[in-house]
Amino acid sequence: MELPGCYWWWPVVLVLVHFGMNGCFGCWEQERIALLQLKASIDHASEYDFSVWNLSNKVSDCCEWERVKCNITTGRVIQLTLNGTLGPWSREDRGRWYFNASMFLPFEELQYLDLSSNSIPGWVPNEGFERFSALSKLEVVHLDFNHFNNSILQSFSGTIALLKELDLRYNNLNGSIHIQDFKAFNNLEELYLGRNYINDFVTTEDSNSLSKLQVLDLSGNNFNARILKSLAVFPSLKRLNIGGNNLEGSYTTKELGALNNLEQLYLDDSSIDNSFLHKVGVMNSLKVLSVQYCNLNGSLPAQRKLQEIQLSSNNFEGMLPSCMANLTSLQVLDLSNNHFTGNIARSRLPSLTSLEHLYLSNNDFLIPATMSTFSNLSNLKDLLGMLPTWLGNMSGLTELVMAKNQLEGPIPIELCKLVRLRFLDLSENNLSGSTPSCFNSSYITSVYLNKNWLSGPIPCAFKNNSNLVTLNLRDNLLIGSIPDWIGNLSSLSILLLRENHLEGTIPHCLSNITLMASTQKPIFRGYELLLATYQIRMPYYVDWNHVGYFVTVVSQTDEAEFTTKNRIDSYNGDILNYMFGIDLSCNKLVGEIPPQLGMMSTIRAMNLSHNNLTGPIPTTFSNLKLMESLDLSYNNLSGKIPPELTEITFLAVFSVAHNNLSGTTPERKNQFGTFGESSYEGNPLLCGPPLHDCTKIGPPSTKLVDHDGEDGGSFIDMDVFYITFLVVYITALLGLVAVLYINPYWCRAWFNFIEVCIDNCYCFVVVHYRKLFNFRLA
Ligand SMILES: *[C@@H]1O[C@H](CO)[C@@H](O)[C@H](O)[C@H]1NC(C)=O
Ligand SMILES: *[C@@H]1O[C@H](CO)[C@@H](O)[C@H](O)[C@H]1NC(C)=O
Ligand SMILES: *[C@@H]1O[C@H](CO)[C@@H](O)[C@H](O)[C@H]1NC(C)=O
Ligand SMILES: *[C@@H]1O[C@H](CO)[C@@H](O)[C@H](O)[C@H]1NC(C)=O
Ligand SMILES: *[C@@H]1O[C@H](CO)[C@@H](O)[C@H](O)[C@H]1NC(C)=O
Ligand SMILES: *[C@@H]1O[C@H](CO)[C@@H](O)[C@H](O)[C@H]1NC(C)=O
Repeated sequence: MELPGCYWWWPVVLVLVHFGMNGCFGCWEQERIALLQLKASIDHASEYDFSVWNLSNKVSDCCEWERVKCNITTGRVIQLTLNGTLGPWSREDRGRWYFNASMFLPFEELQYLDLSSNSIPGWVPNEGFERFSALSKLEVVHLDFNHFNNSILQSFSGTIALLKELDLRYNNLNGSIHIQDFKAFNNLEELYLGRNYINDFVTTEDSNSLSKLQVLDLSGNNFNARILKSLAVFPSLKRLNIGGNNLEGSYTTKELGALNNLEQLYLDDSSIDNSFLHKVGVMNSLKVLSVQYCNLNGSLPAQRKLQEIQLSSNNFEGMLPSCMANLTSLQVLDLSNNHFTGNIARSRLPSLTSLEHLYLSNNDFLIPATMSTFSNLSNLKDLLGMLPTWLGNMSGLTELVMAKNQLEGPIPIELCKLVRLRFLDLSENNLSGSTPSCFNSSYITSVYLNKNWLSGPIPCAFKNNSNLVTLNLRDNLLIGSIPDWIGNLSSLSILLLRENHLEGTIPHCLSNITLMASTQKPIFRGYELLLATYQIRMPYYVDWNHVGYFVTVVSQTDEAEFTTKNRIDSYNGDILNYMFGIDLSCNKLVGEIPPQLGMMSTIRAMNLSHNNLTGPIPTTFSNLKLMESLDLSYNNLSGKIPPELTEITFLAVFSVAHNNLSGTTPERKNQFGTFGESSYEGNPLLCGPPLHDCTKIGPPSTKLVDHDGEDGGSFIDMDVFYITFLVVYITALLGLVAVLYINPYWCRAWFNFIEVCIDNCYCFVVVHYRKLFNFRLA
């Protein structure tokens, strides 16, 4: 009799059979062997960390090996990420890895293969890409940064039915390519051919090849104006990058109208006709248009559906045209680095209420000099090109960059309506008054208000702001003390308060700043990113998918100045993990340096120079193990330099010059062996290398300190010395008083001199000089 319960064990049998086939390791035997063969084929495998690819290793499940990804249910390998691992990248071919298709055929379920950045010179005869049609599940193949030439296209024979993405950027493709070359790729959706030497793409209407193509990258080749016309045959094309080519020549509206499904067009760094933008209106579906670094100065694009316009770094000039008002769908507008003039407030920008990202920096939005005298009349506010109050209506703004214009007047309280703002840069304008305290975006990560004329205390607007990463208030006229709440800004990484008139002591709680990479990644705009990726200045290098909005504002950054030594070039890419620091230099801070600052263990740079700090250098500073730059110069610090400082082994810049430090200089070991006299000069009581020897019979001043006998007996009789000194001093003083009394001119000169000495902060003088000078120009 059959009981329904007898069927319960069938699934168990199936599971057992399944594991039996897989050798109980979850990873298929044939695939493990193939992986080991692959490893054996690499000349320098040990250099590229294939350590776990090893049978004797206890991780015998090859699905756990690095660069391998399996389907969890079938245990079959579906992804191989072998980029940057198959070197060596020597100039000669010896030891280089040649592509061998047979090695990949055991991975029958492979979907994703990345062989990029391997300088692969070619393939083994009869083992080329023609055999790839056996890999019927393949969807993505990355072959960028290798040395393949045009023959690779023909070598893909048969069809690779599922292949959706092929990346051949940075190879040696040249001359012309033909649409027939792509007949193996019926279903290709994304094709990247950027950064090769191709000059023509021959297409025919009747071809079925590439009929599903949606994304095409032809940037950085040798194409000419013909290319745009030949692309009309791709009916599904949505995103096209043909930047970095010479596209000069005229286009008819019919030719451009044929690209009527195109949604994103990138032409950055190309030469192109001034009339081009005028005609893009015929591309009905266009939403994103990027035409940066193209020397354009003609008309602006007029196309209602545009959501993003990137026109930075061109030669546009004059007022913003009124047709801008019709771009009502616009979310991103970048007009930075041009020569636009006139009053933004009176332009049509205010009607663009959908804007989320607005970049207008480095233009000449300017106020006529003769009218600036009326700047205190509030009804003239907008007329005079002050920071426009209508910004308050763009409540969706998340990024606002208007640096380097001539904006005047106070920051309007309308800015407080921008509650979504994440990035605010109004630096290098002529803004004055105090920052509105209502300013209240809890999302804000970066604030740049440096190089303005802002006064009053440090704005409490940023109090309690847990997302703030960068606060740059350098070079203003801020007064008062550094508020304690700064210590509560839990994400703060960069605090720049240099060149203000801040007083009081450094708050202990500054050490509460964690100076750690916050979980909330801040947006680093062009100039910051530029610092990290300055070697890829050309925008078409940038993978738009990954970088997101990227504005290249070519400018020297405060951070660059602030950063230490020449390490900037090693900040490759992940700048966030490196840049932590505080700059309080050139203020009027007094009191002792709080020893608690020694708890900021992740700090990389600290500049407290040009203040009136007193007391000793805290011994706790030796905990600042990651510190690369420490500048305590031009203060009144006294006592000994803690010898423990030599434990800071990353230190590259160190200065305690011009203080009242005494005793011996730190031992010349580790980084301290590299610091010269300039790091210590201006401390009369300090001795030891690289300054003069402490034991040597030095100048009298050295001997004076040692009167407590530490250094053995005195060399001259101190009583005689004091009496002589006193007599000479009194004589000189009487002489001076007599001269000043007799000659009124010298008297005035003397008191002027004294006045300057009282302002003994050198920076104070410099700042005022600069401000006065600017003021007189305005
Ligand atoms: C390989 O590419 C991945 C993703 O594109 C990247 O994260 C990784 O760093 C690359 N590895 C090497 C060794 O280049
Ligand atoms: C290509 O790979 C297959 C499979 O691993 C191997 O048998 C063959 O010898 C390789 N060919 C060359 C020339 O290395
Ligand atoms: C653009 O610049 C060129 C050369 O500087 C000049 O001849 C031309 O008049 C300018 N066009 C416009 C519209 O400003
Ligand atoms: C804006 O669009 C309206 C309606 O389509 C049109 O009449 C007007 O001419 C456009 N304005 C400009 C300056 O292009
Ligand atoms: C800040 O803005 C939010 C949202 O608009 C509001 O609810 C909150 O009351 C504001 N806080 C202050 C201190 O103005
Ligand atoms: C510290 O600040 C002063 C004045 O602002 C500047 O001159 C100096 O170069 C800075 N030091 C370092 C190491 O950046």
